[in-house]
Amino acid sequence: MSGISRRQFVKGTAAAGIAAPAIVGLKPGHAGEVNPVVISSANGLRAVETAYNKIKSGVDTLEAVIAGVSINEDDPEDNSVGLGGLPNEDGIVELDASVMHGPSGRAGAVGGLRDIKSAANVAYHVMKRTDHVMLVGEGARKFALAHGFKEENLLTEKSRVAWLVWKETMSDKDSWGPGLATPEAEKQQEQKVRGMLDEMKRGHLADWVIGLLRHRPAGTLNCLAINERGDMSGSTTTSGLAWKIAGRVGDSPLIGCGLFVDNAVGGAGSTGRGEENIKIAGGHTIVEMMRRGASPTDACLEACKRVEANYGGNKDKLVKFNMIFYALNKKGEHGSASLWSSAWRIDRYAGAHYAVCDAKGARLMNSAFLYDQQAR
Ligand code: GLY
Repeated sequence: MSGISRRQFVKGTAAAGIAAPAIVGLKPGHAGEVNPVVISSANGLRAVETAYNKIKSGVDTLEAVIAGVSINEDDPEDNSVGLGGLPNEDGIVELDASVMHGPSGRAGAVGGLRDIKSAANVAYHVMKRTDHVMLVGEGARKFALAHGFKEENLLTEKSRVAWLVWKETMSDKDSWGPGLATPEAEKQQEQKVRGMLDEMKRGHLADWVIGLLRHRPAGTLNCLAINERGDMSGSTTTSGLAWKIAGRVGDSPLIGCGLFVDNAVGGAGSTGRGEENIKIAGGHTIVEMMRRGASPTDACLEACKRVEANYGGNKDKLVKFNMIFYALNKKGEHGSASLWSSAWRIDRYAGAHYAVCDAKGARLMNSAFLYDQQAR
């Protein structure tokens, strides 16, 4: 058991396998080098505040980030991660997550994880308790169970209804949904959705579900942190693209795409349509640009430009998705950039933002953007 004593190992696995021994191999910087700050995607206001407070009380940056993102993973009302995440096309929630620990230069990830809501913490256990970086599918689930994580059905009633409506309205060539003999079959999609939801006595969900049908979500939470010694960590966690093909893995668990941290330079992550980010290795690209002197915002904008270039600047195609990048450098400077000035969130268009917590408290800040939605 190289590097970890038997006593440490037993201590780490005893508490349901979820509490872990302190990270070994730290190369700490010096206290007072940097003002601590935590940033995240806009859905992470609670996450950044929790992680920041933990960092201020001396908790390791990665453990603090995981404590933050687990708030969203545990929340059934957050349909982008963990419990209540939107499912794949078969109605099964599959989670992706990654973690990177700057001081020890280590990483862990899971892809297509079923039945375990704490995907980021499972990724953390992959980092600490294996000689691998990534586990997927059934292997990841078995690994999580072996470490004491609780198995549960991650499909909430709200997500099930959303999936069922999608399933019943996506095609008129299968047998899902009202048949030809029903009046609904001849109505427009939105009328059908509203009618079905009224029938199900869930009318309050109608706008949300219609929004999901129009704007296929790829909600995700990326969180990056730096402490006063200049040590950095990050995590990205997601239920991925709604209604994806079973087994689809996005950018979030891919080191160098949905997350990258280099303790000497900075960290970066992303939310949005993972397929676009995978093709430009966004996380690594942004950190390398910061290494060459780019500000976090400029590095994120450059990543957006690379996504744009993959479509030859064709806005008719680019408008069909969004990507937002987030970056934090070694000095504690941060920034974010979005392909579009606003994106569909839950039931409306909302401006591109990211969450920040530092000595001034937790708040949303504006992301830069490449294209102005209003100008289209
Ligand atoms: N960015 C999350 C995903 O595409 O899965």
